[in-house]
Amino acid sequence: MTSNHIMNTYARLPISFKTGKGATLFTEDGTAYLDAVSGIAVCSLGHAHPAISDTICQQSKQLLHTSNLYNIDQQTQLADELCELSGMDEVFFTNSGAEANEAALKIARKVANQKGIQNHKVIVMNGSFHGRTLATLSATGNEKVHQDFTPLVDDYIRVNFDDIEAIQAHASNPNVVAILVEPIQGEGGVHVPSDNYLTECRRICDENDWLLMLDEVQTGIGRTGQWFAFQHENLLPDVMTLAKALGNGMPIGACLTAGKANAVLVPGNHGTTFGGNPLACAVALSVLKVIKAENYIEKVAQQGQAIRQQFQDKLANNPHVVNIRGKGYIMGIQLDSPCANLVAEGLAQNLLINVTRGDTIRLLPAFVMQAEQQAELIQKVVGLINKHTGQ
Ligand SMILES: Cc1ncc(COP(=O)(O)O)c(C=O)c1O
Repeated sequence: MTSNHIMNTYARLPISFKTGKGATLFTEDGTAYLDAVSGIAVCSLGHAHPAISDTICQQSKQLLHTSNLYNIDQQTQLADELCELSGMDEVFFTNSGAEANEAALKIARKVANQKGIQNHKVIVMNGSFHGRTLATLSATGNEKVHQDFTPLVDDYIRVNFDDIEAIQAHASNPNVVAILVEPIQGEGGVHVPSDNYLTECRRICDENDWLLMLDEVQTGIGRTGQWFAFQHENLLPDVMTLAKALGNGMPIGACLTAGKANAVLVPGNHGTTFGGNPLACAVALSVLKVIKAENYIEKVAQQGQAIRQQFQDKLANNPHVVNIRGKGYIMGIQLDSPCANLVAEGLAQNLLINVTRGDTIRLLPAFVMQAEQQAELIQKVVGLINKHTGQ
């Protein structure tokens, strides 16, 4: 079904889904599609997960919303759980990833104000994605996202991702207050940095009294085979943002702080009507419970590596495959030519995949994807790539 009344902000595929179960989506006539997109890294526990559906039913019968004028027990409990899992100290809940990043950027601004810095700067990465609000689109390292929305918020210094020397070069700049970086660039083409990249970012932040702010909106909540992608190294950020998989489809985001970023925002500085409501927080608590009960962190780490290895093996002789990269269940297969058409070709084979940056197939399977579905995914994606590249 299409409508002339939907604002034309998305080039949508000509399909809609009526129901879902696990890693499968169904159209109204019952046709099944294997979903390797998971609502762009949102539905990690798949569609219509029984525990999540039960939580939504139960909580909706008890209480949906009171506002942040009062304590919200589910919010308190969720903050405790997230801090225990991450080592962070404080949480502000939002409704989306962009809002979580806005909170992070406001913390950086307030710290700059407290330091008496007039023209403060946050170091951000080329190729990054942080959201579509004015501050977050300005922080984003993609000119297509900036286009038509100048003047941008002028708070950013841009450097190349995974280039520590480029960051170090700004160490003498007294206006810098923070680094904002994704542990793995998702929208930017699934770029995994060098092993010690975040540790080195941490070191530079410590040496210069900057905040290390990690955007884990796409990588957080188990996607990379750790609860949070920074846990592949041995460090703690000052700020971390989450959203996407935290609610498995229930809109919720979070901005977490530690150390010198704690207690920066005080009453009157920031707020939200819906953020952290009982329903969203109850669902997020349920998400964490299922991930723990099913040992998904270990499974995603192991199976993600096994899936990538199979792609490596099966595509080893295809000279048009530039690179196969990823961690856990975020995977990118870069080709040497544009391949956005593979999305439609996948759809014609009842497979949902995504292409970023024009030439990189991005796969974000649900943690619940069954072994035979994984085999189908690999076989179909390899077939699509070989056909596309004439192999
Ligand atoms: C790393 C990252 N940050 C922020 C966002 C924005 O999140 P939202 O669309 O929930 O505002 C996204 C969305 O793709 C993202 O991948």
